[in-house]
Amino acid sequence: MGIIYNEKFKTWTLNTKNSSYQMKDGNLNYLLHLYYGPSIGDADMGYQIRQYDRGFSGNPYASRNARTFSLDAQPQEFSTQQQGDFRTSSIEVVNGDGSYSFNGTVTDHKIWKGKYKLDTLPTVFARENDTVDSLQITLSDPVSKVQVHLLYSVFEEADIITRAVKVVNGGDRPIHLKKIMSVCLDFLNGAHMDLVSLPGRYGQERQVERQHMTHHIHTIGSVRGSSSHQQNPFVILCDREAAEDYGNCYGCSLMYSGNFLAEAELDQYDQLRLVMGIHPKQFVYQLKPQEIFEGPEAVMAFSAKGFTGLSHLYHDFYRSNLCASKFVQEVQRPVLINSWEAAFMDFDDTKLLEIAKAAKKMGVDLLVMDDGWFGKRDDDNSSLGDWVVNQEKIRCGLDQLVEQINALGMKFGIWFEPEMVSEDSDLYRAHKDWAMEIPGRPGVRSRNQLALDMSRTEVQDYLIKSINQILDNANIYYVKWDINRSLADIWSNALPTDKQGEVYHRYILGLYRVMDAIIKTHPDILFEGCSGGGGRYDPAMLHYYPQYWVSDNNHPIDRLKLHYGTSFVYPVSSMGAHISDSGRLVPLRTKAVVAMCGTFGYELDATHLTEEEQQLCKEQSDLFRKYYPLIFQGDYYRLSNPFEMGNMTAWQHVAKDKSESLLSVVVTNLTCNGPQEYIRAKGLLPDAMYTINGSKEAYSGSALMNAGLPIEREVPEYTAFQFHLVRKDG
Ligand code: GLA
Repeated sequence: MGIIYNEKFKTWTLNTKNSSYQMKDGNLNYLLHLYYGPSIGDADMGYQIRQYDRGFSGNPYASRNARTFSLDAQPQEFSTQQQGDFRTSSIEVVNGDGSYSFNGTVTDHKIWKGKYKLDTLPTVFARENDTVDSLQITLSDPVSKVQVHLLYSVFEEADIITRAVKVVNGGDRPIHLKKIMSVCLDFLNGAHMDLVSLPGRYGQERQVERQHMTHHIHTIGSVRGSSSHQQNPFVILCDREAAEDYGNCYGCSLMYSGNFLAEAELDQYDQLRLVMGIHPKQFVYQLKPQEIFEGPEAVMAFSAKGFTGLSHLYHDFYRSNLCASKFVQEVQRPVLINSWEAAFMDFDDTKLLEIAKAAKKMGVDLLVMDDGWFGKRDDDNSSLGDWVVNQEKIRCGLDQLVEQINALGMKFGIWFEPEMVSEDSDLYRAHKDWAMEIPGRPGVRSRNQLALDMSRTEVQDYLIKSINQILDNANIYYVKWDINRSLADIWSNALPTDKQGEVYHRYILGLYRVMDAIIKTHPDILFEGCSGGGGRYDPAMLHYYPQYWVSDNNHPIDRLKLHYGTSFVYPVSSMGAHISDSGRLVPLRTKAVVAMCGTFGYELDATHLTEEEQQLCKEQSDLFRKYYPLIFQGDYYRLSNPFEMGNMTAWQHVAKDKSESLLSVVVTNLTCNGPQEYIRAKGLLPDAMYTINGSKEAYSGSALMNAGLPIEREVPEYTAFQFHLVRKDG
């Protein structure tokens, strides 16, 4: 049983295959967090809690003269507000009487089979054969009548626990929620832990950073209205000595695409608290009596086997339980060519057909018409919002163009940036008030565009209708959904002044509604997410789209870092990766090897390639198809860290049954007369024998993993190697 309630000890233990998580209805019915880590069955972990008189740490009134019980020193499951715990809180609420206080204690719980659901936000789901149990614990404040429901689902086999939170206003006056965290995770001793995060910027998303915990609040978050390029809603807390293959690692991945906050606080007693949820910046959510607010789901995983173990848990889970698209498992993704870096906005139907014809020779399955096909858009100053085909460019009509591409034996894809509007657009001229602009203040421009007020139902309905009109009138196989600015001017003309603090969140709810409506009515379309490259690459987006554009930075050597960082939580099968002209010194074959660490495609003018280059591309497209099951379903291993000085970067895909593997190496730096270098494989069967690229000789898994493969060093700069290991005696 994934969830055990022990009546005697008043503990709830959440057990997955390899981990346990425990809470207790403790002193005065405060909900204590007792344990998260390797399996402990359902032993009462309450013995760890020691109580002392802690000066300057207040005691709940109900503990009378006992001065040893303070919430300031107790490990809590959902930290309270103004109850003597001076660490970061999980909730900040202004009650109906104007007081700032939440004193929630356990009043109820229920356990059931299956996964909990949220009404307003995307969540992971249970597949038919998954063993999933759920728990809801209710914390109630007797004075304000505010209730918090803590929700948990335990995916036993997957070693995953999800959490979410609901706040109910049980009082008779409106309350205002100013902070609500989906996760609060307390560790009794966190002095020797590190925090790993994925910061970045445009063109350099998800670089890996690791910091030691010190006595202050370490914050990771975004206030850009989107989960952003600059931070990712994913953190790892790990042992100081944790590395790829060993050490305890706790992952927390938030299913939310808007402003988020993670705070890791090492307190005065070396206890560590992690909270994660919607960022409180400009967040004031009004709840009328009986109204409910839902906080986003967090997906937690624990691995005692280092970062690789943790990544594998997320990869497997996100490949099966996150996105319902048929392209996740049933249907192989196409090799695509995208028009952006080939022509930018300077194209017409003839040019697209020429690219498609050339791409056909390269083994490409799908042509994507990127930005520039709608309104009168010839540069990025106009037309966003006018989702009608530009007949001066697509003279034959979209349906005819698609037919001609289809006649070549290729599929067709199209680009949208639904959430944005140009001032020079018919949409803006007709509905100026649909754009987010603060009254009386000129809006902050970014790429010369404004954001639409996605919180408005009319805006959502307009987008659903106009995008569906395009999708329903031509044979479209693929959609790239882009967003190319951060949000500023947070204002909705449709909301009263006292509800403007809801706009950030309502924007995201509106976005999810639009995506849901379009994607559910087009289950046969493959959707790829994008935000100026890989901003807003988060699990909520991957709930809708099976793949996401990693970065506008296509330089293959930079991509080694981008793929490495992204892989800490997101599976390779979600990473949009293309061969482009970027990186002129890097051989085309090396670019292909790098793009095979992802969805593989092209982003260049195929008509400019020589016949030999087209032929080489064809071979690479075929190779990608050959290795597709390994890359998309196998286990992915980071073999070296491209952020460290080294001469090569290597990674590996291993089939689940370990019968074959693809080991890739890119030589990034050649030292003159340097030492022989070896790359050690991972994840093979030690006793099995493997051939390499069809060799007569076979090598034991143990030899390949312990001694490694010698990498030829008298090679041109940026040479790449692919070693296909096949089990001989399997
Ligand atoms: C963003 C995307 C690019 C391309 C352009 C089009 O920058 O990341 O791939 O689609 O927009 O404007």
